[in-house]
Amino acid sequence: MKKILITGGAGFIGSHVVRLFVNKYPQHQIYNLDKLTYAGNLFNLKDVEKKTNYHFIKADIVDGEQIMDLFNLHQFDCVIHLAAESHVDRSISNPLEFVMTNVVGTVNLLNAARHIWQNDYEGKRFYHISTDEVYGSLGTQGFFTESTAYDPHSPYSAAKASSDHFVRAYHDTYGLPIVISNCSNNYGPNQFPEKLIPLFINNIRHNKPLPVYGKGENVRDWLYVVDHARAIDVIFHKGSDGETYNIGGHNEWTNIDLIKVMCKIMDEKLGRVAGTSEQLITYVKDRAGHDLRYAIDSEKLQKELGWVPSLQFEEGISITIDWYLNNQDWLDEVTSGNYLKYYEEQYVSR
Ligand code: NAD
Ligand code: TYD
Repeated sequence: MKKILITGGAGFIGSHVVRLFVNKYPQHQIYNLDKLTYAGNLFNLKDVEKKTNYHFIKADIVDGEQIMDLFNLHQFDCVIHLAAESHVDRSISNPLEFVMTNVVGTVNLLNAARHIWQNDYEGKRFYHISTDEVYGSLGTQGFFTESTAYDPHSPYSAAKASSDHFVRAYHDTYGLPIVISNCSNNYGPNQFPEKLIPLFINNIRHNKPLPVYGKGENVRDWLYVVDHARAIDVIFHKGSDGETYNIGGHNEWTNIDLIKVMCKIMDEKLGRVAGTSEQLITYVKDRAGHDLRYAIDSEKLQKELGWVPSLQFEEGISITIDWYLNNQDWLDEVTSGNYLKYYEEQYVSR
C-alpha cells in the first residue's frame, strides 16, 4: 500500500489522473490536494468521491507551513504534482500569481517531500507534471525533444520552466527521486472554458463570437486528456529516476483549421445549417508573445515505456463536444459569477 498525493486533482487533467488512479489501484490511498481556485471543481470527481481509497484535502501549496504539516501528518510515499495556474492569458494579466503558485508552491512541496523522506528514498517518487511550452516556439519545421533547450516566452511558461529547474536541482543537489514529463495541449471533458476548445464550444452553443487571436495561424499539438493521464500512469510506474519524458500525439492543427472542424461538427450535432457556426469567427488582437508552433516528439516515451495514444483526433473531438453538450449544467455553473468578469476583461475591448 502506498500513500499517493496528487496535487491539483480537482482541475482538468488532475481529475482524470485521480479517477484513473483511484479506480486502477484500490490497494493505494489517493490524496487529492487542491485549493479549489476558479479552475478547481470537485464536481469533476463525483463518481469517485465515495471510494474508500480516495481522500480530499483542501489546501494551498503556496502556504509552506500548511504543506509541511500535511506531509508530517500523512507521510506520503509519492507525489504527482499538477497544481498550477495554467492559463497563458491570465499569466499576462497577473504574472506574480503564477510565480507564487507554480514556483513557490512547487518548492514548498519539494521541501516537504525532502523533509519527510529524510534521504531514505526507497519506494519514493516526486513526479512533476510540466508542459511543452517551456521549450518556447518552433518554426514550421522540427519537434521538441527532451534535450531541446528551454526558451519560455509567457509568464506561464517561464514559471513552469522555473519549477522544472527546481525539481531537477533537488534531484542533483539532494538526490530527491524525481521524474518530469512535458506534455502538449490537452483537450477533453472538464476543461475550464477559458482554453480554446471548451471556450469555443460554449460560444458556439450560445451563438457568441469566436475570438481568434491574430490570423489563427498558430499551431498546437492536441492530445486527448485521458491519454495524458494514461501516460502519467506509465511514467509514474516505469519512468527512470531523474528522467524527462515528452508526451504528445503527433496531432498538429492550426487554430483556424481546428476551429472550422469544431464549427462543422457542432452544426451537425446542433442541427444547424452547414456553415452557420463559422460565421461566428471573429479575428481579434493577437496575444502578446504568442508562440507560433508547438509540436512534441514523444519517441522516447513510446519506445522506452511503450505508451501510445489510444484515440484518433476525429473521435476525441467528437466525444469531447458530446460531453460539453450533454453536461450543459457543468458549463453553466462554471461560466456564472466570476467567469463573466474575466470574459469582459479579456475580450470586450480586444
Ligand atoms: P487547471 O487550471 O485545470 O487545474 C489546476 C488545478 O490546480 C485546479 O484544480 C486548482 O484549484 C489547483 N490549484 C491552483 N493553485 C493551487 C494552489 N495554490 N494550491 C493548491 N491547488 C491549486 O490545469 P490543468 O490544465 O489541469 O493543468 C494541470 C497541470 O498540467 C499544470 O501543472 C499544467 O501546467 C500542466 N499541463 C497542462 C496542459 C494543458 O493543456 N492543460 C498541458 C501540459 C501540461
Ligand atoms: P489555449 O487553449 O489558451 O492554450 P495555449 O495558449 O496554452 O496553447 O490556446 C490555444 C491556442 O488558441 C493558442 O494559439 C491561442 C489561441 N486562442 C485563440 O485564438 N482565442 C482564444 O480565445 C483563446 C483562449 C486561445
